[in-house]
Amino acid sequence: MYYHLTTFGCQMNKHDSERIRGVLEENGWSAAAAPELADLLVFNTCAVRKSAESRLLGRLGEAGRLKKERPGRLVALGGCFAQSRQEKIFTEVPFLDVAFGPRNIAELPALLEAAVSGPAAAYSFEDHPFPSADLPARRQGRHRAWVQVMTGCTNFCSYCIVPSVRGPERSRPETEITAEVKKLVDEGVIEVTLLGQNINAYGLDLEPSGRREDFAGLLARLNGIDGLERIRFTTSHPKDLSNRLIDAIRDLPSVCEHLHLPAQSGSTHILERMKRCYSREEYLALVNRLYGAVPGLSLTTDLIVGFPGEREEDFYRTTTLVESCRFDGAFTFVFSARPGTEAAGLPGKVPEKAIKRRIRELVKLTQRLAEENNRQLVGRQLQVLVEGAGRRGSQLRGRTRTNKIINFSGSAKAGDLVDVTVVSATSATLKGQQVAS
Ligand code: SAM
Ligand code: SF4
Ligand code: F3S
Repeated sequence: MYYHLTTFGCQMNKHDSERIRGVLEENGWSAAAAPELADLLVFNTCAVRKSAESRLLGRLGEAGRLKKERPGRLVALGGCFAQSRQEKIFTEVPFLDVAFGPRNIAELPALLEAAVSGPAAAYSFEDHPFPSADLPARRQGRHRAWVQVMTGCTNFCSYCIVPSVRGPERSRPETEITAEVKKLVDEGVIEVTLLGQNINAYGLDLEPSGRREDFAGLLARLNGIDGLERIRFTTSHPKDLSNRLIDAIRDLPSVCEHLHLPAQSGSTHILERMKRCYSREEYLALVNRLYGAVPGLSLTTDLIVGFPGEREEDFYRTTTLVESCRFDGAFTFVFSARPGTEAAGLPGKVPEKAIKRRIRELVKLTQRLAEENNRQLVGRQLQVLVEGAGRRGSQLRGRTRTNKIINFSGSAKAGDLVDVTVVSATSATLKGQQVAS
């Protein structure tokens, strides 16, 4: 029996998809090379913006055709969009056999069985104490791996659907995380990316009477694992970024000098409406502290344009914040009203024309800064983890500690750590030459 899996959304969902693969393959399913060759079509969905849903609906059209062609073929919808619709999803997608939320991956084999043998479609959207952390995972890479350290989010930023589809913040016990990372290292992994929607809050929900680590403590423990060369983590919320964590980034050799620190806006007026719990000044002060403490730190961010009530002066403040933070990269999003969130009901809709202009300006600005930052690296020697062949067959491709992609000439194999001199740069990539050893 063959399955085909399509994934939408963030790294969290991509890692969940590794678990969906793991669970299916442990239950006798094998991956099909294309949807038309599969007996089961699984979609792991995202609901963060309307555009994610539209992309999914496009792909479901194809699934509907394949189902019609062979009615015995199963279609399953998992992830955040499924969770946001719950049982209603079966009316919206009438040919669906199974639906499950991000916390119900372990139940997928039972749901598939129920759909085949039972009279009706099967679903589960139940909450679980710590969903799916221990499930088998069919990981995509050999040398780099995602490790989930938290699930959910309790922040309720006014625009965001994530807390309602992924449940409250829950930290995984430190001992379990350390054991998983050690096992990965034994299998050849040298770089891990720790995942959590608000990872700086790690540990705050754990029993203080037990052995409780905060996030800086967790990093210190992982830093001690022999053979683990690089530790990354995402996503950091500015309000929970402690001085202890800044010290950890500075002092722990395995922790990479890169931080994804979503600002969302540069205007305190908008940040208040977003319920982000920090002001423009607090964000700028935090960035100053970070740059002062961690030499060579690379900062990236997320920004939302067109949030209800965003005036021209608010947008201007976002551009000046971006200029002073000199981000190495930014994901720029147009505000998308999500049903059930507070912001969906806020007055002050920004006209389409203004949104289009603002997003264009912001993209241009962030690209210019990224290019200027990257140009300053020309001539420098950087440590690179080799990922494999580059776009041009003769070249290699790898990643710096600051999470920049570099294409370079040299001779090395995937998983090697090599020194590379940067010879040229654009906003998106670096080019280099391996240093002879
Ligand atoms: N937990 C992370 C944080 O707080 O920064 C990121 C979570 S979210 C999956 C990734 C990004 O999507 C957010 O940082 C935000 O910029 C964007 N986003 C979330 N909801 C949005 C919405 N309704 N409209 C536009 N962008 C949104
Ligand atoms: Fe969404 Fe805010 Fe939580 Fe990030 S911190 S997942 S933006 S509610
Ligand atoms: Fe991620 Fe989308 Fe869910 S961004 S947490 S898959 S809503």
